[in-house]
Amino acid sequence: MSNVISEDIERVLFTEEQIETRCKELAAQIEADYDDRGITPIVVGLLKGSVPFMAELIKYFRHPIEIDFMSVSSYAGTTSVGDVKINKDTDLSAKGKHVLIVEDIVDTGRTLAEVRKLFINKGAADVKIVSLLDKPDRRVVDIQADYNGFTVPNEFVVGYGLDYNQCYRNLPYIGVLKPEIYE
Ligand code: PRP
Repeated sequence: MSNVISEDIERVLFTEEQIETRCKELAAQIEADYDDRGITPIVVGLLKGSVPFMAELIKYFRHPIEIDFMSVSSYAGTTSVGDVKINKDTDLSAKGKHVLIVEDIVDTGRTLAEVRKLFINKGAADVKIVSLLDKPDRRVVDIQADYNGFTVPNEFVVGYGLDYNQCYRNLPYIGVLKPEIYE
């Protein structure tokens, strides 16, 4: 890894400006769906990858929302759905609420499938998902975000919350990592 993290990026997929524009579009689309039903959703960010995306997205909501965070991790080596560990649960109760889960990326889909099930079991009235990125080539579980920012190829993408070994989350754009960094 270089001392300047941008030097480890092979190419930029989505610039900061493109991400901001897409966040505005997503927020307008989401709000229109909730406003039509007069709903104040709880917007739940899955730590840590969702943080930059969630911070950008919620700036463009014009109506009241509540925010919360959750941290989950898959048990190492599992290949089936049904194995997610809650490291930090939401502070707010989801019972009877409309939950909007915020993710940075849907990869195999295991995390979202489990988290969605968790909120349904908590008695949420409705669970929707917004993800900044979708990597459909890697999908194992048949799940799709209700709202998706961009579709990415099956490459090692970092930045805007996405990490490699906990690094690169603070890059203000999405880029492909140079293979020599992780090979
Ligand atoms: C990453 C990412 C998603 C999940 C997607 O989280 O943020 O939550 O993996 O993968 P899946 O679709 O295969 O389940 P990670 O556990 O690396 O935590 P992080 O958000 O702290 O990076």
